[in-house]
Amino acid sequence: MGAKIRKYQPGEEQVLYDICLLTGDSGADASGLHQDPALLGEVYVGPYLRFAPEHALVGVDDDGVAGYVLGVPDTVAFEAWCERSWWPDLRVRYPLDSFPADSPDGGIVRLIHNPAVASPDVVERYPAHLHIDLLPRLQSQGMGRKLMTALLDGLAATGAPGIHLGVSTANQRAIGFYRHMGFTEVETYTHSLVMARAL
Ligand SMILES: CC(C)(COP(=O)(O)OP(=O)(O)OC[C@H]1O[C@@H](n2cnc3c(N)ncnc32)[C@H](O)[C@@H]1OP(=O)(O)O)[C@@H](O)C(=O)NCCC(=O)NCCS
Repeated sequence: MGAKIRKYQPGEEQVLYDICLLTGDSGADASGLHQDPALLGEVYVGPYLRFAPEHALVGVDDDGVAGYVLGVPDTVAFEAWCERSWWPDLRVRYPLDSFPADSPDGGIVRLIHNPAVASPDVVERYPAHLHIDLLPRLQSQGMGRKLMTALLDGLAATGAPGIHLGVSTANQRAIGFYRHMGFTEVETYTHSLVMARAL
């Protein structure tokens, strides 16, 4: 049986957290960088599954779930929900001094206490946002396109006029993929870009 895409099912949180870590270093395996294997997933996977499970899709092959795309139609509403319902518990579990300040885990803990907020200019035109990650075994076979297309269709159906995403400038492969999928650069930072497209 070839790989296919389907909706995320409750109970698949752990494998999605694992995929997040295994692709978390600008597309490469970040497990050597993090002492705590759940931290990246707690920021980039968990809140999406809780807030908008209907926009969580997975790629599955014979060995199981090996990729995902996660999105929210309204980033401002998502950020407000995280402030109320996601960050408070994590801030208790991970105090600011949980890890050395200059370690990758320390950087994620700072994000939990002081989350990134999308800029008003971007969310006005492109209110939705997304994350996509496939394990190497699922890459370069058209699954990224399939997951992205299905996500964009689902978000467009909510009436959202546009979508943005953040990507590390070190991840040139992903930047090429996003350009190919119709995204253009809308903001440039030292180590990252924001890219966006209409829905
Ligand atoms: C980036 C990623 C999502 C792309 O998914 P993929 O399944 O490998 O890509 P696909 O095979 O579906 O490619 C889709 C299309 O994009 C094109 N494409 C892919 N990468 C490209 C690149 N770097 N430059 C130009 N085009 C590219 C493909 O040729 C294909 O074109 P076609 O459908 O018109 O024939 C995937 O490789 C991945 O998850 N990488 C690791 C995690 C990661 O970096 N995530 C992004 C974090 S911001």
